[in-house]
Amino acid sequence: MTSPFDLERRLAEVLGSSGIESPAAEARWLVEAATGLDREMLLMTKARLDEGVVAAALELTRRRAAGEPLQYITGLAGFRRLVLRVGPGVLVPRPETEEVAGRAMDRLPEDGVLVDVGTGSGAIALAIKDERPDARVLATEVSPEAMRWAETNREELEIGIELIDGDLLTGVPSDLTGEIDVVVSNPPYVSESDRSSLPVDVVDHEPHEALFAGDNGISVIERLSREALVWLKPNGWLVLEIGETMGEAVGDLLTDEGYASVHVHRDLAGRDRIVEGRKT
Ligand SMILES: C[S@@+](CC[C@H](N)C(=O)[O-])C[C@H]1O[C@@H](n2cnc3c(N)ncnc32)[C@H](O)[C@@H]1O
Repeated sequence: MTSPFDLERRLAEVLGSSGIESPAAEARWLVEAATGLDREMLLMTKARLDEGVVAAALELTRRRAAGEPLQYITGLAGFRRLVLRVGPGVLVPRPETEEVAGRAMDRLPEDGVLVDVGTGSGAIALAIKDERPDARVLATEVSPEAMRWAETNREELEIGIELIDGDLLTGVPSDLTGEIDVVVSNPPYVSESDRSSLPVDVVDHEPHEALFAGDNGISVIERLSREALVWLKPNGWLVLEIGETMGEAVGDLLTDEGYASVHVHRDLAGRDRIVEGRKT
């Protein structure tokens, strides 16, 4: 029998020697995933782990050391107030996208209508409906695999969003033409030429249709900014997550399309992260 803390130390050594950035924290999460118990429970019960659990934890650690995203291994990803189920076929929601959801909510009037384009796990749409139950929240997705994760999360969390299979805003009920208050999206925005700058665990494991958007990374944003004008109300907002080098190009694009109040928001490290514009 092994103590969970001896096992944690052993896993942290394996992860550290494989170049994982936060080996101690990840070892703790992997022990929790293998035992099904959180750290408090492990402490309280003074648990001793049998060989089966130790072998399971070592197998999870082997997968992580080989580059699989931690969240695919644990099957879970935190996003704002929610814990979402994730796995192969869907992008792991990123902390920076929590800010995008927050900005979209700031732009959403009481009882407003919002569409999340390319919802993936459902992260943005579910978080907004969770925090703003007054809103009508729709979400589109083109990938069937990603859509299955969004459906699972909607069911498990019992949050009433409307999921639509479709390219960008195709499939949104036509009576919402010109009636939407906010279109929000974390679209694919990595250019083919930046492929080599992505970490190997991202390129090798996460879905490419969630990441890449043509030669310059802007092709999906170009189409979406044009289509959104048809769906938005006058004074409705388009809120987009962007790559850190894209602020000026996307800002100019929205201005050229006729959006007003175009603004590029930076994160705490000064990187361009979000662009928003208002339909006039
Ligand atoms: C960067 S991921 C974002 C996923 C999720 N919104 C998040 O923030 O975690 C982009 C998502 O857009 C979807 N997507 C790509 N092209 C699309 C299109 N033309 N129409 C709808 N969804 C699309 C991808 O399948 C992927 O799930």
